[in-house]
Amino acid sequence: MTYVYLLGGRTVIPPGPRVPALVQTARFMAAAPSAFEAYHRRYGPIFTVRYAGFPPEVYVTTAELAEQVYRTDQGGGHAGAARRDFLAHLVGEHSVLTLDGDPWWRHRKTLNPPLRAKQVAGYHDDIAAIAAEKIASWPLGRPFALRDRMQEITLEIIIRLIFGISDAERVGRLRALLPALIQTGGSMQVAMLPDRLRGPAARVPITPYARFLRLRAAVDTILFDEIRRRRGTSGGTDVLGRLLDTGLDDQEIRDELITMLSAGHETTATGLAWAFERILRMPEVLERLPDDEPYLNAVVKEVLRVRPVVYEAPRLLDSPLRLGDYEIPAGWYAGPYIPLVHRDPAAFAEPGAFRPERFLTEHQNRGWMPFGGGRRFCVGAQLALLEMRVIIREVLRRLELAAPDQAPEARRLANVTLAPARLTRVIARARTPARTE
Ligand code: HEM
Repeated sequence: MTYVYLLGGRTVIPPGPRVPALVQTARFMAAAPSAFEAYHRRYGPIFTVRYAGFPPEVYVTTAELAEQVYRTDQGGGHAGAARRDFLAHLVGEHSVLTLDGDPWWRHRKTLNPPLRAKQVAGYHDDIAAIAAEKIASWPLGRPFALRDRMQEITLEIIIRLIFGISDAERVGRLRALLPALIQTGGSMQVAMLPDRLRGPAARVPITPYARFLRLRAAVDTILFDEIRRRRGTSGGTDVLGRLLDTGLDDQEIRDELITMLSAGHETTATGLAWAFERILRMPEVLERLPDDEPYLNAVVKEVLRVRPVVYEAPRLLDSPLRLGDYEIPAGWYAGPYIPLVHRDPAAFAEPGAFRPERFLTEHQNRGWMPFGGGRRFCVGAQLALLEMRVIIREVLRRLELAAPDQAPEARRLANVTLAPARLTRVIARARTPARTE
């Protein structure tokens, strides 16, 4: 079968649904994963989707095509511009998420060192202690949503290890403010509010945008205060301490702190929720956990392959991109649809099987992109992987978890992530005696 549309020998854009953009948008919001799978079956490995009010987006679904898209990070593709409209109100103008070109690199250079594997390894014991403290308060014997509990842990990690805040009163205020800020800031009513309506919305206190601004102001007061206070002291092992001497000003540091919060805490919590959603349905996997460290690492990677948290990593093109026989016009988005790239049989043997061993015995790097790729590869990947390993281990050492319903949970769209539809329902029982090292 060929997927090339040829018009008089001229190559054209990839095929895609022909219904109006509004209908495609509604379909995306109602049933994202199954809609993409249907497009893939119908149109092949590369297809065009149109969203109302935005440039068209070309999705690619093979490892090879994804690599070609990521190559545009060398020139021609802008990850920052692709995210700016949805994120700048929250993360600001000086965020590694929304910048491109030299300003992006200036920021990225400051974030890379404190988030390298070697550096974050120093957080191991703190992560374990935060997890242990939270796990001790989980309910026993009745079902609850694990994802919410995971989010409490990953939030605490950001507050204490990234922001470096330990003062109980401030920690308490941030615990209440940050989830509300991220939730309001990421909601459709706020993220999709056109620029020209922001001023009027800000003046009406009951609008979601006005509420978002109040929350942002309250969080900013705490963060700027903390940054100024810390400027007077030296160093610190938290990420904030390491950013203070890099030449970034207070506003730039504030923006990067909120960036790490918004990119790092829900994603990692959802990754953990999927890890338990999967392993609780696979006794043979669960049996080997948590003490076989290389296996645990491989399980985390395989979970992120079969249930990637972030489903796409688009680039906004400022010059045309040739992909095979197609040419994607400048001004369009191009990006991998990660769940399908992870099922590319050219990259993964038996892609439908849950086989952690592929990460133990084979050099399985090609096509694995839960953290995106190219130069914009997730800066927090090493921290996220460490958090997942440590938290899974701490949970399994203390508790026996079971899924009240063995049917797999569906994938549901939540902002830029695909989360378990029931937020990973579990029942916990104390493990007697608790396993220790
Ligand atoms: C399981 C957890 C996580 C997942 C699945 C994830 C996934 C991703 C993905 C797909 C991207 C886009 C990459 C691209 O466009 O090619 C990204 C970027 C980013 N992530 Fe993560 N992430 C996670 C955790 C974290 C954490 C813990 C942090 C910070 C502490 C973080 C900070 C960032 C930042 C700042 C960027 C933008 C990088 C840039 O544009 O240069 N992420 N992440």
